[in-house]
Amino acid sequence: MAGEPVSALTIDLQPLEPPFAAKLSGPDLSRPLDGATLDAIREAWRRHPVVVIPGQELSPEQQLAYSRNFGTLRGHTVTSLLHPQYPELLVLSNRGRGGTAPINNGGAYWHSDITYEWEPPMGSILHGVIVPPGGGDTLYADMCAAYEALDGETKAALEGVTAIHTYRFRYLAMVAEGVRPARTEEQMAEWIEVEHPVVRTIAETGQRALYVNEGFTARIAGWPEDESRDMLDKLLAHTVEARFVYRHRWQPGDVVMWDNRRTLHRATEYDLTQERTMHRTTISGVRPV
Ligand code: OGA
Ligand code: MN
Repeated sequence: MAGEPVSALTIDLQPLEPPFAAKLSGPDLSRPLDGATLDAIREAWRRHPVVVIPGQELSPEQQLAYSRNFGTLRGHTVTSLLHPQYPELLVLSNRGRGGTAPINNGGAYWHSDITYEWEPPMGSILHGVIVPPGGGDTLYADMCAAYEALDGETKAALEGVTAIHTYRFRYLAMVAEGVRPARTEEQMAEWIEVEHPVVRTIAETGQRALYVNEGFTARIAGWPEDESRDMLDKLLAHTVEARFVYRHRWQPGDVVMWDNRRTLHRATEYDLTQERTMHRTTISGVRPV
C-alpha cells in the first residue's frame, strides 16, 4: 500500500548527547519515502553514526523495505534467530517470537556486529517492537571520537597494525561463564579467524575509527600475547568511557540505525519476566581498510 511520499522538508534532526547520536523525526518509515527524504536520512546517518527515529509501527515487510534503501541485506550465522518467513530479519526476543529461538540479553558485551567475518556489516537497523517498561537499554560508543582522543604515542603504535577476530573467542568466553557447553576443536573449526586493521578508515567521510571490540577481537596479530592483551584492554577501557557513550532508553516503536564501522554497542540487563522483542535488519559491508 504505497502512500503519499513524505517530503524531506518535514524532517527534524536533533543531536543527542554525545552528538554522534541524533534523533530524527518526521518520516513514517512504513511508507515508501521520496528521494529527497531518503537523501536527508542518508546524510543524517553519514553525519551521525547512530540515528534514532521514534514512533514507528513497522511490519517485518515494511522494515525490510525501508532497510533496503541503505544497501543489500544479509542474514546471520545464528540461524535460529532468523525469522522463518523473512530470513533477512533477525528476531531478538526473550519470547522466541515468530518461530525463532528465545534469546535473553543477546549482545550483552561491547561489540560491533559480526566483525568475525571478512566483510562485516556496514550497519544495523533495530526496531523496538515490545520493550520492557525499564531497563534493556542499548549503549553505543563513538569509535571515531575514541580514536581521536588517543595520545600520539598510542596512535603511532597502532599504525598499520591488524587484529584477529573470531566467533570462537566469544564462544570460549561464554563457555568460561558457564552459559554454553564446551565444544571440541573439530566442532569449533567452522569459526574461522579473520584479520582487520585496528584503525579503519571510513570511505565516505575519511574519518578514522578504532576497530576492536570486547566481543570478537581475540588478539593483535603478530604481538606477544601479554602485550596484545594489555593493548586491547587499554583500548577497550578507553572506548567505553562515559564521554564516548550514548545510552538509548527504548520506547516502543523506536528505530535505531547504527554504523557498525564507527560504533560499538552492547545490551544491558532488564527484568526477564517482561517481554523484550526487537527486529533487526543488517546491511552488508565491505572488507575494512
Ligand atoms: C543487536 C544488539 C542489543 C540490544 O541488535 O545487534 O546487539 O540491546 N542488540 O538488543
Ligand atoms: Mn549487536
